[in-house]
Amino acid sequence: MPSQFSPSARGKLASPLASALAVVAAASLFVGGAHATDAPRLVEKDGRHALMVDGAPFLMLGVQANNAANYPSQLPKVWPAVKALHANTLEIPVAWEQIEPVEGQFDFSYVDVLLKQARENDVRLVLLWFGTWKNNGPNYAPEWVKLDNKRFPRVITAKGETRNSLSPHFPATLEADKKAFAALMRHLKTADPDHTVIMIQPENETGTYNAVRDHSPTAQKLFEGPVPAQLVKAMGKKPGTWSQVFGKDADEFFHAWSIGRFVDEVAAAGKRELALPMYVNAALRDPFNYQDPYTYSSGGPTWNVLDVWKAAAPSIDAIAPDIYMRESANVRKTLEQYARPDNALFVPEIGDDKGFARFFYDVLGAHALGFSPFGLDYTGYSNYPLGAKTVDAQALENFAVHYRLLAPMAREWARLSYTGDVWGVGEADDRKAETLKLGDRWTATVSYGEWQFGSIDAPWMGKADKQPNREVPDGGALIARLSANEFLVTGYRARVSFGSAKGERFMMARVEEGHFENGQWVFDRLWNGDQTDYGLNLTTLPQVLKVKLATY
Ligand code: DGJ
Repeated sequence: MPSQFSPSARGKLASPLASALAVVAAASLFVGGAHATDAPRLVEKDGRHALMVDGAPFLMLGVQANNAANYPSQLPKVWPAVKALHANTLEIPVAWEQIEPVEGQFDFSYVDVLLKQARENDVRLVLLWFGTWKNNGPNYAPEWVKLDNKRFPRVITAKGETRNSLSPHFPATLEADKKAFAALMRHLKTADPDHTVIMIQPENETGTYNAVRDHSPTAQKLFEGPVPAQLVKAMGKKPGTWSQVFGKDADEFFHAWSIGRFVDEVAAAGKRELALPMYVNAALRDPFNYQDPYTYSSGGPTWNVLDVWKAAAPSIDAIAPDIYMRESANVRKTLEQYARPDNALFVPEIGDDKGFARFFYDVLGAHALGFSPFGLDYTGYSNYPLGAKTVDAQALENFAVHYRLLAPMAREWARLSYTGDVWGVGEADDRKAETLKLGDRWTATVSYGEWQFGSIDAPWMGKADKQPNREVPDGGALIARLSANEFLVTGYRARVSFGSAKGERFMMARVEEGHFENGQWVFDRLWNGDQTDYGLNLTTLPQVLKVKLATY
C-alpha cells in the first residue's frame, strides 16, 4: 500500500500524498457535480456499511429534536442548537395527525417549511414517521384513527384487557398508515429533488408495553396457524404452529413478526414513491439478561428478535438501537448486538447528558453510520433522568466538543470506516486504560486522566495533582488504518500509546499533526520529543494525527 506520508511543508501537500489526495478531491468534485442529486442509499461491502449521500459515504453527526418540535413555530428553537452542536443532520418527527388531520386531506405545509429551513441551515434531515406506533401507542395518529377502536382495533392481552397499542393484524390500520406514509414520500419526491432528506424512520419504537402479543380472536386464529414459510426458512426451523416452532418464545416472536411485516409494508409503500434508506428504532431490552417481554416493548426489534425482524422486513435497511442505558458495558454490548454484517449500525437516539457523550467513540469505532443525542434543542423540554436535567449551552457543548473534532473530516471518516479498519473507545465506567488490537502487528492503549507529561503511576510523579474535571467520564479516542503501519488518530482527553503486538522493538517513526480542509489533509507540524515520549496526549483541542509505526 502506498505511504500516506511524505515530506511536506506547512500547509502544502507533496507527492505521493498530494497526488493521492488530489484524486480524492477530484472524485469529490465529480460527486458534487454530476452526482449531486443521486438519491441517498445504504451500501454494504465485506460486512461494512455506508450511507451514501451525494454519491459518497456520509457520517451523520446528528441530533434528534424533541417530540413536539415538529411545528414551524418551534423550528427557530431547533436550528441554533443544531449549529452550536456542529451537527450535520437533524432527526425530526413528521406526525400522521399533522399531515392527515382529516381522512384523505393532506397538509404538507410543515414539511415544506422544514425542508426550506434545513437547506438554509445546510443541514440534512432524517424524518421520523410517527404513525401507528410512537413508543408503542398511536398517540400521533389522527383522531379519526386513534379514537376508532372498531375500525382500528387495539391489542388485547391474554386476560382480555385493552392496551393503547394498535394491533398489527388489521388491514384497515395497515392500509390507512400506508396511504398516509406513501403520500408523504410522494410529496418529498417533488418537494425535495436535492435530497435534503437522507433517511426515513417509519414508525417509532414499535411494540407493545404490558402485553406480549395481541390475543384478539383475529390474532389468536393466526397464532394457532402455521408459521409463515419465509420465517421458518430464515430461522432454520421445521414447519409447524408458532408454539411448536418457537416454544416459550412463540408469543413474542409472533408479535415481532406481525409488527415487522406491517412496518415492512408501510416502508415498501413509501419506497415505491421515493426509495430513500429506511430504518427502524428499538426500545431496548436488557442486553445481557433475560427480561420478561411484558416489561419492555414486546414485538419491537429488540436484540433477541433481530433475526425475526430481518426476515419480516426486507424493505427496512437497518435496525437501530435507542440507547438510554448509562453503563458502558451495556452500551458496548448493545453496539455488538446491532452492528452485524447484515445490519448497519446507527444510533438514532442516545441520552443527552455528559455521561453519554463519550460513547460517540465506541459508536464510531463500531463502524456506525452516525450518532445522535436525543432532545438537544431549545423547545423547552428535557428528558431527565434519561438525559440532561437542563438543555442549555453547556449541555450542547458536552457533545459539540466531539462533533467539532469530526465535522471537518466526517466524509473522510465515513470513507475509512466503510473501506477499512477503524477502532474507537470511550472512557469506560471503571476509568481504566484499554488496549485495542490493531490487526496482527500493532496495539494501541487508550488511557485517561494523564497529564501530557509523565505517567500518573510513575513513582517520580510524587504528589502531582489529579487531572481536574473528571467527575464524569468524558474521554475517548478514534483510530483508522491508513495503510499497514499508518494510522489516523484523534480523540478527546485521552492518551494513545502504540505498542507492538509481537513484542518487537518499535517506534513512532513520524507523527504528523494536521487538519482536514475541503476533504484534503493539511500538514501543520510534526510531534516529537515531549509530545510523543509519553504517548500521544489528546487534549480538549481538536487534534488529528497521522502516525507511522516502524521497527528498528
Ligand atoms: C424514545 C423515543 O423514541 C423518543 O421519541 C422519546 O420519547 C424518547 N424516548 C424520550 O426519552
